[in-house]
Amino acid sequence: MIILGLNAFHADSAAAIVHDGALIAAAEEERFRRVKHWVGFPSQAIAYCLREAGMTLADVTHVAINQDNRAVMLRKLAYLVSHRPDFALILHRLKNRKARDSIQELLARNLPGDRFDGEVHRIEHHLAHLSSAFHISPFQDAVVLSVDSFGDFSSAAWGVGRGRTLSIDRRVYFPHSLGMFYHALTQYLGFPHYGDEYKVMGLAPYGKPAFMDAMRKIVRLRPDGAYELDLAYFRHHKEEISYRWAGGSPEFVDLFTPALEKLLGPPRAPSDPIEDRHRDIARSVQAMYEEAFFHLLTRLHERYGLANLALAGGCAMNSVANGKVRRVTPFRRVYVQPAAGDAGGAVGAAFALWHKLDGARSFVMDHAYWGPRFNPGDIQELMTSRQAEIKAAGCSVETIEDEAELCRRAATRTAEGKVVGWFQGRMEWGPRALGNRSIVCDPRRADMKLILNSKIKRRESFRPFAPSILEEEVADWFEEDDAVPFMMQVFQIREAKQALIPAVTHVDGSGRLQTVSRRTNPRYYRLIECFRDLTDVPMVLNTSFNENEPVVCEPKEALECFLRTGMDVLVMGETVFERPAGDA
Ligand SMILES: [Fe+2]
Repeated sequence: MIILGLNAFHADSAAAIVHDGALIAAAEEERFRRVKHWVGFPSQAIAYCLREAGMTLADVTHVAINQDNRAVMLRKLAYLVSHRPDFALILHRLKNRKARDSIQELLARNLPGDRFDGEVHRIEHHLAHLSSAFHISPFQDAVVLSVDSFGDFSSAAWGVGRGRTLSIDRRVYFPHSLGMFYHALTQYLGFPHYGDEYKVMGLAPYGKPAFMDAMRKIVRLRPDGAYELDLAYFRHHKEEISYRWAGGSPEFVDLFTPALEKLLGPPRAPSDPIEDRHRDIARSVQAMYEEAFFHLLTRLHERYGLANLALAGGCAMNSVANGKVRRVTPFRRVYVQPAAGDAGGAVGAAFALWHKLDGARSFVMDHAYWGPRFNPGDIQELMTSRQAEIKAAGCSVETIEDEAELCRRAATRTAEGKVVGWFQGRMEWGPRALGNRSIVCDPRRADMKLILNSKIKRRESFRPFAPSILEEEVADWFEEDDAVPFMMQVFQIREAKQALIPAVTHVDGSGRLQTVSRRTNPRYYRLIECFRDLTDVPMVLNTSFNENEPVVCEPKEALECFLRTGMDVLVMGETVFERPAGDA
């Protein structure tokens, strides 16, 4: 059975292909379109998945999409009757619904010459999230929780997964939403773009939780573990706030009301300087999120009594909160797959359908390398076609077939303080670069953040960079010891070690680590081993291979990024491009 899973008409549209219960390929549309968080129909990601699987649409037996307008219909109708929202708003939603209806038509239009004759299945948004968390986890039983802004009239859902069975026990319904709370406060703090919540998370440790009284007015916890918003501070339940299209990027109008400005003071404009008040609000927003999240998790543990927790939904990208779960709640093991946000719904929709149609569980997602690969011939071709530019930049080009030698070279350059592009194997699934489309640097240098920002990244100075560490070394360097292969948990770095790795130690002594396993990424593991042999530090700084754009996908994009930025070295497959020293 071949299932094509889709996340379409949400941000981070994506496709995945599942063959007899095993994932073959998965990718976000933004990587092909080169527009961050692309919303719309993921036609290029679908074409890629089919190519990778060696199939055509005619081979696909089912399409599963993570949206079902009929889900919780009674609840929707009850809400409409009791709240009587604006007539234009209802009309707009109906129009949107119609535009989203025919998947067959969209497939035919976007993949001409190919024909899909199978069945289309609509999977409730949060069931797809839950399935993406549990069905590909290593757990045979777990509490499964999805928390996001909204999808199919809900903002959270939870239940228990056992074997292949998984059902939704409870939901938090529109208009209440923790994701909406975080999103609106992110806008208030002057970060207007989709996905900017991680900036607030990065800013939070610089402030004090001085606004908790105000936060507890905005979010109220309920005795059953759920929560409510004080709607006086929000606009989403009164006005249409869905995506505005601008070249495929999702954009929103402001989600907060003047009442929030009265409560917290004037909002920050994106160009305003960041002051202590903003830092304190950021800290309070993160603290309020954690208060609500742990309140819910504690109740869920009481209710279900299981040790395992599988998380998904946009809020499951909150790696700071995820990293505290084992310390704050009785849960002992946490699984968060790399595309925990809406993109992950493509995988979740496919697996929810596979298990609904009686499929057995046989697949665990223990690595993130499900995207496009390249052939050595691609690099050779690229070098020929871009020869003049490579020469004009004064770059040396060398092929090193011996992997040990290749990794030693990259590790040596890293230890010399160089910025090294590291492009290998299949692209990562999810927003994090995990050693295949990464830029690596020396974590020991306090000035590395400045160097990276001046040469390539140009990101806000308050945002931390993350370490990739050999998995056996975690306990020596961090206060927690767990496998975090997808950078989904932040741990405290041991106090005695913090000064040794200033470039990856955040202001509060934390680090958003990626644990690297020899089994799932042997070449990246070897690079870090070589760096450890040179420096006694078993980790490198790892940031995504991009410059204000989606993470690079193809060799061409990697070479272009290398040539236009101040990157010193590019290791692409077995080929090493190096700028002359002092040139960058
Ligand atoms: Fe979602």
